[in-house]
Amino acid sequence: MTTLDTVYSPSDFRKQGHDLVNLLADYLEKAQSATPEKTIPFVAPEDNVAFWQADLAKGVENDPLDFFRKVVEKSTKLHNPRYIGHQVSTVAPLSALSQMVMGMMNNGGAVYEMGMVTNSLERVVTDWLSRHFGFVMSDFGEPQPKSDITNPKYTEGGGIITSGGTLANLTALLAARAVASPTDDWTNGTTEKLALMVSEEAHYCVDRAARIMGWGAEGIIKVPTNDRFQMKTELLDAYFEKAESEGRRVIAIVGSACSTSTGSYDDLEAIADFAERRKIWFHVDGAHGGAAILSKKYRPLLRGAERADSIIVDFHKMMMVPSLATAVLFRNPAHSYQTFHQKAQYLWENAESQDWFNLGKRTFECTKPMLAVKVYVLLKTYGEAAFEEFIDRTHDLATEFTQILRGGKNFKIGVEPQSNIVCFRFLGVKSTAKSKKTALSVEFLNQLNMSIRLKLVEKGNFYIVQTNIRGEVFLRVSIMNPLTTIEHLKELVEEIERIGLELIHKRVN
Ligand SMILES: Cc1ncc(COP(=O)(O)O)c(C=O)c1O
Repeated sequence: MTTLDTVYSPSDFRKQGHDLVNLLADYLEKAQSATPEKTIPFVAPEDNVAFWQADLAKGVENDPLDFFRKVVEKSTKLHNPRYIGHQVSTVAPLSALSQMVMGMMNNGGAVYEMGMVTNSLERVVTDWLSRHFGFVMSDFGEPQPKSDITNPKYTEGGGIITSGGTLANLTALLAARAVASPTDDWTNGTTEKLALMVSEEAHYCVDRAARIMGWGAEGIIKVPTNDRFQMKTELLDAYFEKAESEGRRVIAIVGSACSTSTGSYDDLEAIADFAERRKIWFHVDGAHGGAAILSKKYRPLLRGAERADSIIVDFHKMMMVPSLATAVLFRNPAHSYQTFHQKAQYLWENAESQDWFNLGKRTFECTKPMLAVKVYVLLKTYGEAAFEEFIDRTHDLATEFTQILRGGKNFKIGVEPQSNIVCFRFLGVKSTAKSKKTALSVEFLNQLNMSIRLKLVEKGNFYIVQTNIRGEVFLRVSIMNPLTTIEHLKELVEEIERIGLELIHKRVN
C-alpha cells in the first residue's frame, strides 16, 4: 500500500469521519452542559505558534483524531452560550456537516459543467432571498416561464453567492460602477473622479472597495450620523452637491443595514428617495442585518431595501452558516452581468451571453466552494422558520439585556439596540462612595472598560469585544448564539461589576 493509497482509502475515511463526528458531538454536548469548557482558552500568539511548530516537528502521526482534538480544544468556542463576541455564526451543526459534502465533491462553479448542482442551488437560494426583498417578480409556486435558461428575458437569477461580505460589497459596487458611471472604467481605467456616499459608521470594507476601484480617499464621502449612529439623510443633498461642485462624480450610495459597531440601521427609505432623485446606484450592506428580512417582527428595519439596486447578506453571520458565504442580490438581474467583462475561451464560448449557470462570469472567484450547499441544507431541513426564530430570539434578548443594564444604573448604553448588538460601558458607580466624589474621567473609564475586557478574556468564561463610540470605549456583545439566555447575560453583568469594582478599588487604594 503506497502513501497515496492510504490517502484515498475508503475504510480509513469511514473511521476518521465517525471519530470526527463523535468528537464534534461531544464538543457540542459539553458546550451546552452546565459545566462548559472555557469560551476562549487564550494563549499568546508566540506560544501558540511554538506549540504547533513543536507538534509538526514530532513527525507524521497516522491517526488525525489527536490533531482534530487539539484544534477543538485550543479554539474559541462559539457554541458556548457565553460566546457573545464578534459577528460570526454559531454554526448549525448540520450546515457544518454539509461542508464535508462540499469539500469532498469539490465542484467549482465557474462553469456549469463543473458545478451543476451547486450553481443550480445558488440560483435557487438567491432567488429565494431575492423574493423576500421583493426583487423577483415571479414566484416558484406560481406558473412562470419555464426555466428557459437561454431566454434573456428570464427575470430571475440576478443573485450570486460569494466568499464573504467584503468581496460581496466590492462585487456590487463594481456593478454600480459599470452601470451608473458615465465612463467605461473597465476598458479605459479610471478617467473621472468617481465617488460613493456612505455613513461614517459603515464597515471599513466599503471604504476599501472605493480605494480598490482607484477612487482614492476623496472617492468616499462619509456622511455624519445622528445620535443613533444612523446616516443623517437630511444632509445627503448638501454633501452630494458639494462633491459635485468639487469635481467628483457621485455614482452610488451605500446604506448600512445594520452598522457593525452599534448595529444601527440607516433609514433606507430616505436613502432610496435620494438615490432615485439623483439617479445614482443604491446599495444596501446587509451583511449583518439583511437576514432580518426573514422575520415578520424585524423586517420593518429593512423598509426601503426593496428599492435598492443591490443588497448583500452574509449567511455566515445571522443565518447559522459556517464562514464564508454571502448573497449578492441585484434588483435587475441584467446588472449582475455587467460587473466583469472577460473572455476566457477555455471556460465560456460566449463571453457576452447572460447565462446564469456559468457563475464565473459574475463572481470574483473562478474556482469556488459549493457555497449554496451549506445554506440550502438548512432551508430544506428546517425551513425558513429556523431563520426567523433565530432573528427573533437573538434580537429580543438584546432588548431584554439592555433593560437589565439600565436597571442596574452602573452602565451607560451606547445606543438603544435595533439588532442583536449591544454596546455598554461600565461606569463604576455602585458602592464606590469614593469614586462618586472623585468623578471618574473619560480616560479612566476607557482604560477601565478595556481592562475589564482583558480580564474577561484572560479568565476565558465569556468572550465579548469592545468598540469606541465618539471617544468612549464601550463593551460590545453580539448575541450570535441562540442558546445564550438572559441568565448567562445576568452572569456577565455580575462578572463585569465584580472585575470593574476590583480594578477601581486597586486604583483608589
Ligand atoms: C456591515 C458589514 N459589512 C461587511 C462586513 C464584512 O463582511 P465579511 O467579514 O463577511 O467580509 C461586515 C463584517 O463584520 C459587516 O459587519
